[in-house]
Amino acid sequence: MAALAKGSVVAVIGSGAMGSGIAQVAAASGYTVKLFDTRAEAVDKAIADIGKVYGKLVEKGRMSGADADAARSRLHGVAGLAEVADARLVVEAIVENLDVKRSLFAELEAIVGDDAILATNTSSISVTAIAAKLRKPQRLVGMHFFNPVPLMALVEVISGLATDAAVAGTVYDTSIAWGKNPVHAKSTPGFIVNRVARPYYAEGWRLLNEQASDAATIDAVMREGGGFRMGPFELMDLIGHDVNYSVTESVFRAYYNDPRFTPSVMQLEMVNAGFLGRKSGRGFYDYGEGAVAPQPCSEAPQPLPEYIGYSFEPGDHTAIATMLIERLKARGISVTKRNSAEGHRSSEAPAFHCNGAAIYLTDGRSATRRARDDKHDDMVVYDLVFDFNASPRIAIACSDQCNPRAMDSAIGMFQAAGFTVTRLDDVPGLAVMRTVAMLANEAADAVNQGVCSAQAADVAMQKGVNYPRGPLAWADMVGVKHIVTVLENLASSYGEDRYRVSPLLRRREQSGARIHA
Ligand code: NAI
Repeated sequence: MAALAKGSVVAVIGSGAMGSGIAQVAAASGYTVKLFDTRAEAVDKAIADIGKVYGKLVEKGRMSGADADAARSRLHGVAGLAEVADARLVVEAIVENLDVKRSLFAELEAIVGDDAILATNTSSISVTAIAAKLRKPQRLVGMHFFNPVPLMALVEVISGLATDAAVAGTVYDTSIAWGKNPVHAKSTPGFIVNRVARPYYAEGWRLLNEQASDAATIDAVMREGGGFRMGPFELMDLIGHDVNYSVTESVFRAYYNDPRFTPSVMQLEMVNAGFLGRKSGRGFYDYGEGAVAPQPCSEAPQPLPEYIGYSFEPGDHTAIATMLIERLKARGISVTKRNSAEGHRSSEAPAFHCNGAAIYLTDGRSATRRARDDKHDDMVVYDLVFDFNASPRIAIACSDQCNPRAMDSAIGMFQAAGFTVTRLDDVPGLAVMRTVAMLANEAADAVNQGVCSAQAADVAMQKGVNYPRGPLAWADMVGVKHIVTVLENLASSYGEDRYRVSPLLRRREQSGARIHA
């Protein structure tokens, strides 16, 4: 398969936020673009705006003046669909409505040549359904860009049931020629990103609902601990709670009320209140002039414990705890290997010890449950972070019966390692761990159901929503076995089918293999 040749005519139908971005990118990549919209003024505005963007790129030295002029000259507004007859590729970015999209494509089919490719930028409608009434449904494919198109590299190339593989291949290669990072996916509700990303919001809502902490604190943990560019609440404020809620609800309905996708009643209340986020001036945060941003909760400094012990063999199978030892040692803190006969040691997992506290990476049990299971009251659990060598913040929780002195020692240990410590209420799986486990679980299900490859799932989440690491690569890093344990413990803590383990994760756990080869 090869990309459409440079200079080929690409028609973009709909010149709103997405259509104008697509036109900008295609023209800058050497393609002749014909832009159409039922509102002629929208076409004029888009062309003027794109011209200004090219101008700014020239000012910043990211595009030469000659290239900008050439790109501008390749961009044409057209007044009627008849003028796109010579298009080799038509990308539709009009209103999100099945009937309107179907009738547009039916009209286009009678205008363009037989070998022209028809692509839809739909984010939520079945590509199979859009194609169903066409004379040649095999030439229709999804070409799903992300907003803002010029900045987001991902294109999901979506094949409906009838889509010809060669058509999807040409669109894939053409996306590369446009400087994009495409992935193949099957037409299923939410495709890859809008499905796999659901737990990022949903687990945030659940943490808030269970009063793990406030929104600003959970956001800070996900950002500074998890390495995500934005926490779930600030991100939903940006997306708009009305939009985010309706995507969640449509994915939930599309999967016949699968509890994994259950929307949040708290979010519905935000929508009911008109607290839609940035666009309404208020969401979780206040965007009014002079509003003061709430500060995340962080623990006050605690002294360095006189003694920090650990009871495991440092190495690959205890990679996370080993990195913590290294982080402490790099700051001149002495950490002592404990004799296995010494004190509390009922669990196989790597533990740290100071002042009676047993400190474990969360395995999806609350600290209180673990204290009971291990018959050790002073239990502290710590969250996953993006990089145990460098992440600036970590969340921890302690058992209800934990002695405050033991808790403070654990806080002191993490502070000595250079973390800002946030204490969450004792919710199972803490914040980053349960979110990453659920993201990996959803990605694994998409792979298991043939929606996309593991590679595509990870690329999609990194390039479409800027995740710091693909969820499946992250599961491999933590260890699939541990991720499965986290999910099982969440399932037994909540008694909900929502946390059921994907058959693919289960199989990898059983074989001991990684998800990525
Ligand atoms: P928009 O509302 O900014 O632009 C849509 C444009 O289509 C408007 O200018 C409208 O006049 C025009 N239009 C409506 N019906 C038309 C027709 N029959 N023929 C020609 N033009 C028509 O919408 P936006 O955000 O650009 O979205 C467009 C499509 O892209 C939708 O299918 C949406 O689901 C999808 N999408 C949107 C994303 C986003 O973040 N906004 C992300 C990915 C996909």
